[in-house]
Amino acid sequence: MKKVICLMASARKKGTHYAASRFMEKLEAYGNVKTEMIQLDDYRIETCRGCQVCFAKGETYCPLKDDRDVLIQKMMAADGVIFATPNYAFQVAGFLKIFIERLGYALHRPQFFGKIFTSIVVQGIYGGNEIKKYLDFIGSGLGFNTVKGSVITALQPITESEKRKIDKILSKQSAIYYKKLFKFAYPKPSLFRLMAFRMGRTSIRLELTERDRDFNYYREKGWFKADYYYPVRLGIFQKLAGTLFDETARLTSKSRHT
Ligand SMILES: Cc1cc2nc3c(=O)[nH]c(=O)nc-3n(C[C@H](O)[C@H](O)[C@H](O)COP(=O)(O)O)c2cc1C
Repeated sequence: MKKVICLMASARKKGTHYAASRFMEKLEAYGNVKTEMIQLDDYRIETCRGCQVCFAKGETYCPLKDDRDVLIQKMMAADGVIFATPNYAFQVAGFLKIFIERLGYALHRPQFFGKIFTSIVVQGIYGGNEIKKYLDFIGSGLGFNTVKGSVITALQPITESEKRKIDKILSKQSAIYYKKLFKFAYPKPSLFRLMAFRMGRTSIRLELTERDRDFNYYREKGWFKADYYYPVRLGIFQKLAGTLFDETARLTSKSRHT
């Protein structure tokens, strides 16, 4: 049985709730999936003050004491995560943005490998595509195996014809999501992801020290010596590209100090 949770960023049970619920119903109907809807407005998540203590010392040193870790534990315990949000002023809703900022340290130290992620953006008129791309990027940055998100356009009350369109979009997205949920979830990285890892790890190795949490985390994980975050078989082209990315980061670091 796989567990899928949805972090719901709309406080009202209208369009976003409808779309996310349909998505979850579809997953459950395929079989062997248990879902949980988590209303972000039920949790107390303080706004990041930018002290950067989580980057430097570790997330446990965050001075804000709230429900952040409850949500993170739920994400850690799940096999799949969905972020569902309305489009508010061409961005994710504040409930979600505030939470994502509190996950900033996990963008430095990704940790959701082997879990499947997707997003559902619900809007009145326009702007959702950029939000979807943003959430895809965040999902992958956190370490998730990301299924492209969807954008749903629907005004209230949702008409029958809109419901049919929504269903079509969500059927396609949920089928891909479900397949990945039951498949080996550690895919080969894209060239961009490989570059992000190799340049990131080399600059962390050269620019930081044992006093920094990022440095220790990467060392503990064996990432200074690894091909990628997790074991993968890179092809010859990817191997060469990886070496080139490491070298580029090394030269950039060197030029900073000369
Ligand atoms: C503060 C606010 C800002 C919004 N900004 C946009 C926007 O930029 N683009 C858009 O298409 N819809 C916008 N909308 C409309 C919502 O995205 C749309 O009504 C959505 O369905 C709301 O989700 P809900 O039904 O789950 O509350 C906005 C709504 C609110 C309340």
